[in-house]
Amino acid sequence: MMKKKVAIIGGGQIAENVHVAHYKTRDELEIVAVCGVNEESVKSFAERNGIPNYYTDAAEMYSIEKPDIVSVCTPNLFHFENVMQALENDCDVFCEKPPAIKADDARVMYETAIAKGKVLAYDFHHRFADDVTILKEKVDEGMLGDIYFVKVKALRRNGIPGWGSFTNKEIQGGGPLIDLGIHMLDAALYILGYPNIKKVTAKMFQKIGNKKSEGSFGKWDPTKFGVEDSLFSHIELENGSLLQLETSFALNIKEKSEMNVEFCGDQAGAIMFPAEIYTDEKGELVSLLKRETADSDRHSKSMSAFVNRCLGKNVMLADGKQGYAIQQLVEAIYQSAEKGESVTL
Ligand SMILES: NC(=O)c1ccc[n+]([C@@H]2O[C@H](COP(=O)([O-])OP(=O)(O)OC[C@H]3O[C@@H](n4cnc5c(N)ncnc54)[C@H](O)[C@@H]3O)[C@@H](O)[C@H]2O)c1
Repeated sequence: MMKKKVAIIGGGQIAENVHVAHYKTRDELEIVAVCGVNEESVKSFAERNGIPNYYTDAAEMYSIEKPDIVSVCTPNLFHFENVMQALENDCDVFCEKPPAIKADDARVMYETAIAKGKVLAYDFHHRFADDVTILKEKVDEGMLGDIYFVKVKALRRNGIPGWGSFTNKEIQGGGPLIDLGIHMLDAALYILGYPNIKKVTAKMFQKIGNKKSEGSFGKWDPTKFGVEDSLFSHIELENGSLLQLETSFALNIKEKSEMNVEFCGDQAGAIMFPAEIYTDEKGELVSLLKRETADSDRHSKSMSAFVNRCLGKNVMLADGKQGYAIQQLVEAIYQSAEKGESVTL
């Protein structure tokens, strides 16, 4: 069997710990090259991971290596150009989240992938947890009834990323919304079947990132902290339901981190991690389903689904269409927070 050739664009921590780690477990694949902007760092990435070739010029990499599959693991600003280049070179593409910074770029990526007949998927890995699969099945069966209120939380008490460019608005496009909130929004929308959104209202703050300089995700420079550190939003769906989003890199809450979604239906309620469904009878809580622990191997399941699709299997992916939809939502939320008024989609 001919192995499919894989190339990595952007040799940072997610490329190494998630993408390369998974590709190496697959007999059907061989990683042929890594490409980055800094020669020394890309060379050492290749040596550490046993990758035979490294490049600082992507065009040269495509012409020599002719990969079948590309992982785009650069900072957000460079997702668009690298996904487009990979599609133009007839590769299937797995791009880190968020899809892009601008919704229009996510649209072009989606349309190009369709036109080229190539796989385009994003690493929204939380939706691959068994908890989400179980919950989605029960929601689709109607166990919760009409879901009219959803609480989406992606919060850290003090978890501003100390590496990379996560506090640089130009390179990342924003702070916790585009980095963390987008994950839980994707998982929530996936369970709800990616419904149409009517209107968003949001407010954002910069209260802690520009004052403190150290937390559970390392150290940062508060004088260069250029993104929101908290953002709160109301998202109205076309069907009349409401999503309430709370997302933060640093917020004075009791828990170190809260990454979860709560669904309230007229028949029952549910929590995503670990999956639990419950209702009330005469004032008493009645458990309908309860997992003891949440899945911890979501990332490898997300990678595995992408590779399986590239190998021709019909598996669920966070695809280009949903990537465009969530990028439109993120853009509208930022617009609302910047303008101080509601934005209609
Ligand atoms: N799915 C997840 O849970 C998850 C977790 C962390 C990061 N991410 C995403 O992964 C991406 C990278 O994050 P990271 O934590 O690995 O950051 P990182 O800073 O560790 O890695 C980024 C790498 O890209 C390289 N790079 C920068 N500009 C480039 C360009 N134009 N072309 C090629 N390479 C370039 C950098 O030199 C660096 O090696 C971001 O989009 C981030 O949102 C996703």
